Amino acid sequence: MISYASLKPYLFKLQPETAHHLVEYFLRGANILPSAYNPWIEDHFVQHDSLQQELFGRTFLNPVGLGAGFDKNATMIRGMQALGFGFTEIGTVTPQPQAGNPKPRMFRHIQEESVQNAMGFNNDGMYKAERRLQERFPFSTPIGVNIGKNKTTEDKDAINDYTTLIKNFKDLCDYLVINISSPNTPGLRDLQNETFIKELFAEAKKLTDKPILLKIAPDMSPEQAVELSTMAVNAGAAGIIATNTTIDYSLVANPEAIGGISGAVLKEKSFEIFEAVTKALYGKAVLISVGGIDSAEEAYRRIKSGASLVQIYSALVFHGPTLIRDINIGLIELLQADGFSNITEAIGADRK
Ligand SMILES: Cc1cc2nc3c(=O)[nH]c(=O)nc-3n(C[C@H](O)[C@H](O)[C@H](O)COP(=O)(O)O)c2cc1C
Repeated sequence: MISYASLKPYLFKLQPETAHHLVEYFLRGANILPSAYNPWIEDHFVQHDSLQQELFGRTFLNPVGLGAGFDKNATMIRGMQALGFGFTEIGTVTPQPQAGNPKPRMFRHIQEESVQNAMGFNNDGMYKAERRLQERFPFSTPIGVNIGKNKTTEDKDAINDYTTLIKNFKDLCDYLVINISSPNTPGLRDLQNETFIKELFAEAKKLTDKPILLKIAPDMSPEQAVELSTMAVNAGAAGIIATNTTIDYSLVANPEAIGGISGAVLKEKSFEIFEAVTKALYGKAVLISVGGIDSAEEAYRRIKSGASLVQIYSALVFHGPTLIRDINIGLIELLQADGFSNITEAIGADRK
């Protein structure tokens, strides 16, 4: 099997988005020739009693999932399992297809192991994603669908976009995520307010019992994050995903003028927000931590802080897919060292 270390110099010579398309092309192969990817599953997918938990009425064989934005169009669900992910969040999907922002719109900060993106919800739209999920769902690893409004939808009509998406995906996934935290759709983050959240979850409740989570931005004070998250949970959110990318450009030496930053430089900011939210909501909602996770130790820190699940995106770019296996194997060892027989005992251990 070719190692990622040997491929990386060639991938890094390409524009990040071109490299992404190449990887997608390879991973889509798992849809056509699943058996050809069985050696990958055997090599990368870690399954161990201590990592297994029940959530959202499903079994999660391991807690390391793919963060939204990598598989925007639900084309790589099988491929992601072959890379070892215990669950996949597809999207962000919008009702209508949209092209996203002008290119280039994805950048690497190599020294800082960080990514900056201004994609702007480029995606095939809900009908195509729906068709692909109809072929795939239910799948052996759980699937989340992350949803967002179209760029051309005015904020006053945003609720319709979200309810339309909920109706379309509610029976085609294990959980849904409301994305109002991307920095790349003008005005989107303004929807992180009480009126919108209360109305949205009230409408959502009429439509489905499916767990719906809210994904929040890191660009607010911990107090604001707690206030927003508590409001969402009181309004009916099943959980919180913290965090999306940051617009704090001081974190990298040579920032681009657009987009949100993710990866290693987001680690502490994301953890600070997550920790504040978990202190307030641990035991009351499912909490998922994402942002700068790049090792078993970092994943374990989030789990002990209160994360039932963790997600990864940027570290995949710099460390390659063996990282997922390494994190899971590392987690088994860390759980054992602390005397936990199952991950559920470690989740929120710092809160007890
Ligand atoms: C290129 C790129 C595209 C992204 N697109 C989305 C998206 O469509 N929806 C979303 O909720 N988050 C999106 N994200 C944010 C990630 O899901 C994640 O929250 C963030 O990158 C922090 O995690 P990381 O440091 O592991 O990358 C995107 C991130 C990147 C790097």
